[in-house]
Amino acid sequence: MDFFEYRDGELYCEEVKVADICEAVGTPVYLYSHRTLVDHYRKLDTAFAEIEHLICFSVKSNSNLAVIRTLIKEGAGTDIVSGGELFRSLKAGVDPKKVVFAGIGKSKEEIEYALNSDILMFNVESINEAYAINEVAGRLGKKAMIAFRVNPDVEADTHHHITTGKKENKFGIDINIAVEIFRKANELPNLDVCGVHAHIGSQILSSEPYVKSLGKLVPLIDELRQNDINIQNLNIGGGLGVVYLDEKPQFASDFAAAILPMVKATNCRLLLEPGRFITGNSGIMLTKVLYVKRTAAKNFVIVDAAMNDLVRPALYEAYHRIKPIKITSDEEEVVDVVGPICESSDFFAQERKVLKVQQRDYLSLFTAGAYGFTMSSNYNSRPKAAEVLVKDDQYFIVRERETYQDLVKGESIPKFLF
Ligand SMILES: Cc1ncc(COP(=O)(O)O)c(C=O)c1O
Repeated sequence: MDFFEYRDGELYCEEVKVADICEAVGTPVYLYSHRTLVDHYRKLDTAFAEIEHLICFSVKSNSNLAVIRTLIKEGAGTDIVSGGELFRSLKAGVDPKKVVFAGIGKSKEEIEYALNSDILMFNVESINEAYAINEVAGRLGKKAMIAFRVNPDVEADTHHHITTGKKENKFGIDINIAVEIFRKANELPNLDVCGVHAHIGSQILSSEPYVKSLGKLVPLIDELRQNDINIQNLNIGGGLGVVYLDEKPQFASDFAAAILPMVKATNCRLLLEPGRFITGNSGIMLTKVLYVKRTAAKNFVIVDAAMNDLVRPALYEAYHRIKPIKITSDEEEVVDVVGPICESSDFFAQERKVLKVQQRDYLSLFTAGAYGFTMSSNYNSRPKAAEVLVKDDQYFIVRERETYQDLVKGESIPKFLF
């Protein structure tokens, strides 16, 4: 469910006509719906209402301060993977006691920053990382709460670039030697080993992989407790899928119904780290048609957004629905929708039948709220797009479009070159 809809052929975000934003702010621009963000968060929160739980919004999916703030105000914490994401979370006003810090390569500086900020816990990915956290915590006179990220070796049935819970993936500790590793860490004086974490992948459409994963994690928790390791937190990561084309992802309520019996059996507090589920369909990217180029082989629609703005099609062959924001006819044609970057992988659609468009039309790429702006870059020295948040009949520029000056910020030419 989202709050982008066509009314008499014109795309609206909540009560705002999208064309008005394109004209006023320019393109490319990301547009987020506040109501959709809140609706998605509440669906998940309600689904797990009967047990103690904490939803840590995965900041990597969309790290705009206004988006994080929207979710924090609903009660969310954050799932972070870097000092930068911690900085953003704190700046947005997160309660540090609702922050979990994941990632396989945390630096000592990041660990120190997190400990000094009094975050809730670290999701630790190796024994050597546990040693590092123990050392930093000792130096600071603190005790660090940790969960180990366990790799349950289950198939997540998703794109191979976004599966993370197979034994050949770089993430987590091998479930077969997990008890040994938990025991070693439990002996360290500055750690409180209190959680089990797993994140098996992204864009997962059914509860089955989670049930399989929990089928391994629940007995592990039992075994750890028998070894006097006081596990009180079960973090099942993120990964819930959304609709890009015609997928049929599970509802939050069905997901909860499928996993709740297993979670309840552990008596643990449940932690979740959703990203895409909350932000995916809450955002669109808008772009303008610069030229239509017809060749003997193909028709190209050349737009002013490029792979630096939205890299998912180039990176994962990801599908985003593309439609003009003003629909005047139902005539269709087969085209490639491409950006101006000097790479053949700079495309948003290939050989796709879309509504016929003309120069200067605005197009919307749907389901762009997750891993859209956050993965954007300045490749080809292109300033990053603006971001806009819509609430009801108002819109707010929540990130200015970058300027050429921003592109060279921090750069300098050494004297010897003059
Ligand atoms: C550890 C961890 N948690 C949560 C997420 C969020 O995943 P999603 O956006 O699919 O919910 C990710 C994504 O890569 C992750 O690596």
